[in-house]
Amino acid sequence: MKPNPALGPSRRRRSSNTSRLTAAALLLISLLQPGLLRQAQAGDIEVLHWWTSGGEARAALALKASMQAKGHSWKDFAVAGSGGDSAITVLRSRVVSGNAPAAAQIKGPSLQAWAREGVLTSINEVARAERWDELLPQVVSDQMKYRGDYIAVPVNVHRVNWLWVNPAVFARTGAKVPNSWDEFFAAAETLKKAGVIALAHGGQSWQDLTLLETVAIGVGGADFYRKAFVLREAAELSGPTMEKVLTTYKRIKPYTDRNAPGRDWNLATAMVIKGEAAMQLMGDWAKGEFLAAGSLPGKGFICTPAPGTAKSFIYVVDSFAMFKLKNPANSAAQRDLASAVMSPEFQEAFNLSKGSIPVRLGLKMDRFDDCAKASALDFNAAAKSASLLPSIANGMAAPSAIEWALKDAVSQYWNSDKMSAAEAMKRMVEATRAK
Ligand code: GAL
Repeated sequence: MKPNPALGPSRRRRSSNTSRLTAAALLLISLLQPGLLRQAQAGDIEVLHWWTSGGEARAALALKASMQAKGHSWKDFAVAGSGGDSAITVLRSRVVSGNAPAAAQIKGPSLQAWAREGVLTSINEVARAERWDELLPQVVSDQMKYRGDYIAVPVNVHRVNWLWVNPAVFARTGAKVPNSWDEFFAAAETLKKAGVIALAHGGQSWQDLTLLETVAIGVGGADFYRKAFVLREAAELSGPTMEKVLTTYKRIKPYTDRNAPGRDWNLATAMVIKGEAAMQLMGDWAKGEFLAAGSLPGKGFICTPAPGTAKSFIYVVDSFAMFKLKNPANSAAQRDLASAVMSPEFQEAFNLSKGSIPVRLGLKMDRFDDCAKASALDFNAAAKSASLLPSIANGMAAPSAIEWALKDAVSQYWNSDKMSAAEAMKRMVEATRAK
């Protein structure tokens, strides 16, 4: 340590003794409580998401806890509702006003769109050090990169094409859990005659389209789904298979209830949990709701692939896009967030609550339930047989302008008593031209 020329000799000695003492004290503190010294570099970490339902909020808590354990202060930026539609609107206004959060729940092709605007930052430093390329399925790592740089970190894999069943309601009414659409309508009729709401539905446009994509893969198969929704070929969007899909879709409506319009998805799940409705067709974020309510798989609820979709897998990969930040401590916290999200501990804790499966390859599934184990097996099998498909309704398959236009067209068809399937197909083709 250099002597301080501004001090006299004795004060200088006292000063260097004091420094030695302070250094020793700091060393002791750091040995006893490693977290304390790191606080010096602690940053604020603000994360925008829409995980506000019971199961989602439990999962989001796992993220908060892991950041707090690293000494950072967590600023929750949750915007409820509508499969994230409201959250993205709020995010846009924050980014436009130069006040972006550290990270935001953005997924699929939207990641590229945000990156093109120049507002995202590279997290290659973390990704390279931790060898993410080897830890992620390539279909996922490709989507997390912009021009070769990681700009986002993936959290999970959700499967969309699930049917959630209340077995007590089925037992009471004598209905049989369906595997095909014919069986679905037979069960729905039995349930309806017994005075039960067969299908809990939330009439919001993203849920209307989630239901349609599930029917599409069940009726038309994986190849049809890919041509219609991923490649968006006009001939498939307006061909005979789509017509069959749309008429099957519309046949479901009489088995939903009058109060469906506007209902949130988790309230629809609550109807199945309480036995007010027998089934829900929804992604496995619904499982998070059953679990949060204390309902157990195989007992309180049953998960089974949506009719006709046992071999297919419509996926949603939730991810956090990383925004450019000005404060270096916050950037360091952001890198810690990226690293924490990919850690085996977080992947397990988060996904146990969320209803999804870890996106990181090779993790043990011991602590997961049978629905998650089946999902993991089906994910791998579908990846090998080209039946792994991105969800069009949940931000994975199309630029957001097209997705929104498709949601509108499909909701109009669902809600109208007069619109023909032919008219709906015309509107869907038009929607794919949205900019
Ligand atoms: C999806 C999201 C899921 C789930 C769902 C309902 O868009 O990918 O993680 O949160 O919305 O909120």
